Parts: sequence; C-alpha cells; structure tokens
Amino acid sequence: MADIIITRTVSDLRHAVRKFRDEGDRIGLVPTMGALHDGHIALVREARKRAARVIATIFVNPAQFSPAEDLAKYPRTEEADLARLSAARADILFAPTVGEMYPQGFATTISVGGPAAAGLEDRFRPTHFAGVATVVAKLFMQSGADVAMFGEKDYQQLMVVAQMARDLDLPVEIAAVATQREEDGLAMSSRNRFLSPEHRALAPLLHRTLRKAADDIAGGAGIEAALAEGRAAIEQAGFALDYLEARHAASLAPIADPAAGPVRLLVAAKIGQTRLIDNIAAT
Ligand code: PAF
Repeated sequence: MADIIITRTVSDLRHAVRKFRDEGDRIGLVPTMGALHDGHIALVREARKRAARVIATIFVNPAQFSPAEDLAKYPRTEEADLARLSAARADILFAPTVGEMYPQGFATTISVGGPAAAGLEDRFRPTHFAGVATVVAKLFMQSGADVAMFGEKDYQQLMVVAQMARDLDLPVEIAAVATQREEDGLAMSSRNRFLSPEHRALAPLLHRTLRKAADDIAGGAGIEAALAEGRAAIEQAGFALDYLEARHAASLAPIADPAAGPVRLLVAAKIGQTRLIDNIAAT
C-alpha cells in the first residue's frame, strides 16, 4: 500500500502541502464525507490526471445536515476509506474533527444564490447548500488546492460550488466528474448501502426513467409531456417522488423548450427510508 500522509489539523495539512508546493507540484483536492465507493475513487483518479499531488478529505459536515436528517447515522468507515485512498495513490488524507473545522465561536456562513435557490434540493433541504458552501470554501482555503473534483451525481452541489468559486474569485478550478454507475444504471452513492434487497432491485428505475425522458425529448416530445410520463412511472413503482425536473444545465432555471438548453434532467425520490438523487444530460 502506498504511503499516505494523514493530517487532522489545518496546520498539519498546510505543513504537508507546503512541502509539495516547494517541489513545484500542482495540488488536486477531492472533498468527501467518507464511506468511499468507486464514485469517489473516480474523483481521485481524475485528480491524479490533473495534479501531481492529491489531497482527499473526509469530514462528515454537521452544517449541511438539517435537524431532521440523521447526522449520527451517516456511515463512518475511515479504516476502509484509508485503504482505498492509499490504493488509489492519494498523497494526503485530511480528516479533521468537528472542533477543528468549527471551533468555539465560529460564526460565518456562506450563502449562495442562483443555483442554490433553484427549487430542487434546496426545497427539501433549505439549509443544506449554505453548509456545503461554507465547508467547501474552508477546504479550499485550508488546502490551497489548484483544482477540486466534484461528481456530477450531486449536480446542484456542483453548480453551487462553481458559482461560489466564480463569485468569490477563489483561485481554484472546479472539475466535474461523470457519475459512476452500477451495471444496472444505479448511480453510486454512500446511501445505496441502506437499500433493502427489494428496494435495491427497484432503484435503477430512476436512471431508466431519466434515460427514457431524455430520449423522448431528443425524439421531439415536449419536455412537460416527457416529465409527466416519468413522474407517473416513478410513483407507480412505489417511490415517494420529491421532484423530476428539466432545468437549464448551467443556471438550473426551469426550461420548457429544448432549443433553449442544454437541458439537465434531475430527480429525487425516496424508496423506503432511503432518499436517492440522480440526473443526466438531456440534450
Ligand atoms: O458531496 C459531498 O460529499 C459533500 O457535500 C462535500 C462536498 C464533501 C461537502 O461536505
């Protein structure tokens, strides 16, 4: 297993990064909340292509969970994560404590508008993106990374982080990495482990539905008609649907005409106790 430097404090992280900087190395960042799967490892692989040194972070960020969401239940698998990161040849793991990230008296929140207020995830998780933006901005500043990887699986998050980096002139490039899927199309997610065998068998229906709606739109069906059919299919299969929407791929504004695209289709639905999200390009 390759050597990986484990850091738990901002000052140790900066010390380790300074050594790489002194050698003239470009730094890539892979922010995660742990419970790593192949989707995260694809982010590390992409970071290795874009930078000489890769920092992966593991921090289950309390600020992006609402009181109704179970922070304590979020899977924590640091030993297995460390083995995967070493095998993928990450150079540094930064795994701070909550106290290190949010010391006594911490009082700053970054509030992003635009895609963060698109009426998608924010409708169901109103404080989520402020928590994400705040922790991601801190990770950018702490690591001094040149480029940071974000999966398209969390598409609204990707747009929010890109908006924040642009608006605040943060000197970091945001790199989007395609969603990694299981063979049956289910988007890889740390939450998939909570699916019962019965719900796991149903879960790929979300991706199939997105694909069908995208094909219908490409074939000339109206966006609203394609979405209405998709929503019915998801609900008939037993999901509790939060949304199936077509949005402009860059602004996440509602879009009714494919010619005004590019169009992104986004879905969120609960099966049993597990909430799944997915999205694809439609045009
Ligand atoms: O996508 C995630 O795992 C988290 O939202 C992130 C970007 C690591 C911030 O906590």
